[in-house]
Amino acid sequence: MPTRSKIVVLAASNSTTSINKRLAMHAAKVLQDEFKAPVEIEVLDLNDYEMHIYSPEREAQGIPQLAQDFYDKLGAADGVILSLAEYNGSYTAAFKNIFDWSSRVKMKIFQDRPVMLMATSMGGRGGMSVLAAAMDAFPHFGASITSNFNFGPFSEHFDTETDRLKTPELALELRDAIKAFQATLPVTD
Ligand SMILES: Cc1cc2nc3c(=O)[nH]c(=O)nc-3n(C[C@H](O)[C@H](O)[C@H](O)COP(=O)(O)O)c2cc1C
Repeated sequence: MPTRSKIVVLAASNSTTSINKRLAMHAAKVLQDEFKAPVEIEVLDLNDYEMHIYSPEREAQGIPQLAQDFYDKLGAADGVILSLAEYNGSYTAAFKNIFDWSSRVKMKIFQDRPVMLMATSMGGRGGMSVLAAAMDAFPHFGASITSNFNFGPFSEHFDTETDRLKTPELALELRDAIKAFQATLPVTD
């Protein structure tokens, strides 16, 4: 019986129409369908992990179960595909709150898992600032970053009708990023 690698896919956004979720899911689909990687994909939704805003006083009352659940989801994965939404040059409040709470379970929330990092936005810089922040910070939180892919402005490059990329050079770059991520997954099948 072949074993499949478990991949957790998420956007650092709580938007129900998140373009980052769309991008992260697209990358997972390429990994599964085009690269034929034996993976089991679980898509997380930040809305399922909504908690009151972190404060030390609230932490003194106890860490919410949802923070533990989020931490456990990352720990149960063999790899993480994460696309970051950018609000005012930084993480969305929704993601930052879950990040803060989970880091109080244990600081290394990514638990040495391979992480494929991406970002896209509606702006011309395509989430460049939040991606740079995460590249700088996440290794301290146990992320083994395999790829760092700035997709740029979403509408310019992504055809939402066909779920395909419009820009061939970017499609190649994305494949390289996925390849680097795939190389770190446990060898299965
Ligand atoms: C409060 C707010 C701040 C934003 N700040 C930025 C920004 O700094 N840079 C950027 O490129 N886009 C910014 N945007 C636009 C987002 O890129 C856009 O909303 C995008 O869809 C967010 O990603 P998501 O759909 O995955 O949530 C901002 C949007 C909001 C609502």
